[in-house]
Amino acid sequence: MFKSRILGAGHYVPERIVTNEDLSQLMNTSNEWIVERTGIQERRWYTPGVDTVTNMAAKASKLAMSRAGVSLGEIEFIIFATITPDYFLPGNGVLLQRELGMGTIGALDVRNACSGFIYSLSIADQFIKTGMYSKILVVGAEIQSSALDKSDEGRSSAVIFADGAGAVVLGRSEDAGLGVLSTHLHAEGAHAEELYCIAPSSSGKERISKELIDRGDFFLKMNGNAVFKHAVVRFMEVIQEALACNGIQKEEIDLLVPHQANLRISQYVQQKLELPDHKVFNNIMHLGNTTAATIPIALSQAWEQGKLKEGDLVCLAAFGSGFAWASALLRW
Ligand code: UT7
Repeated sequence: MFKSRILGAGHYVPERIVTNEDLSQLMNTSNEWIVERTGIQERRWYTPGVDTVTNMAAKASKLAMSRAGVSLGEIEFIIFATITPDYFLPGNGVLLQRELGMGTIGALDVRNACSGFIYSLSIADQFIKTGMYSKILVVGAEIQSSALDKSDEGRSSAVIFADGAGAVVLGRSEDAGLGVLSTHLHAEGAHAEELYCIAPSSSGKERISKELIDRGDFFLKMNGNAVFKHAVVRFMEVIQEALACNGIQKEEIDLLVPHQANLRISQYVQQKLELPDHKVFNNIMHLGNTTAATIPIALSQAWEQGKLKEGDLVCLAAFGSGFAWASALLRW
């Protein structure tokens, strides 16, 4: 059986910076509230007519491929995690394939929200382990800001979610000691409506109607308290599962890269694992929560900052809509 390894990571975020001050002009909120409850100071939102999920993903992918030293023609498969696709159908994987000019290679879309990137990494890992493919582009990209209710009613989600793209090239590892050690996937659909977006729905009377628009069914809806309470428990469980599976102690983690949901969630997990600050990567302060894109963006930035060195033990963990949650342990 082969082992897979991240050969390179890249990211792209829109140029438009939206500060907490900007948000307080749109809704009844304040910099103090947002910083205290979420740790976010600013985030990036797309510019209509400029940024698309596909073109941001293409920029992130090109950077990932160049850092991996892998040419476009060597990529054999695309896995694209997003819950905010450019079209209702087809999925974003094929749009990225067209944008980059990648012939007729297969392209798969994953809709697992915040845990979408780790689910995608896990799928790619299986393809590489079996020998079916040797180089796969794994992408997480989102434009959340167009589906946010920017009135007072939607403020608890509107201040958190943001836009951006990240990508990695997962390839066959040449060194049996380096690469993905294990991935762990979980879900509990009983909580589907705690964080969801109803429309467009195929099971309604019409996919889109005036009624539905008037009700605001196309906005993301979140029960923040419920998500928070489950998140802190599941993050810990799934990280411990990954450590136990590999017989590794928490002290051995060199870098924890948590999904950037809320700085308070990351800090809670850090505290429980008793990890020092330099062993936890956070960028939510400047980028907000970009759903499936947070982890690949964080990997790209951590690598740029020299925080990922060959042989480092890296733990990825995510929790979000579904509920769905996941972890991965890698030897970088
Ligand atoms: O990506 C993965 C999925 N998402 C998450 O993991 C998010 C998890 N949840 C959270 O991060 C937090 O629950 C939030 C940041 C969303 C909300 O923070 P909270 O501490 O749970 O606040 P809350 O919902 O309990 O609301 C507390 C108060 C309420 O006012 P009252 O009823 O006490 O008067 C809210 O109306 O804060 C109010 N509030 C706000 N005030 C100013 C809610 N949002 C805002 C806001 N600005 N943006």
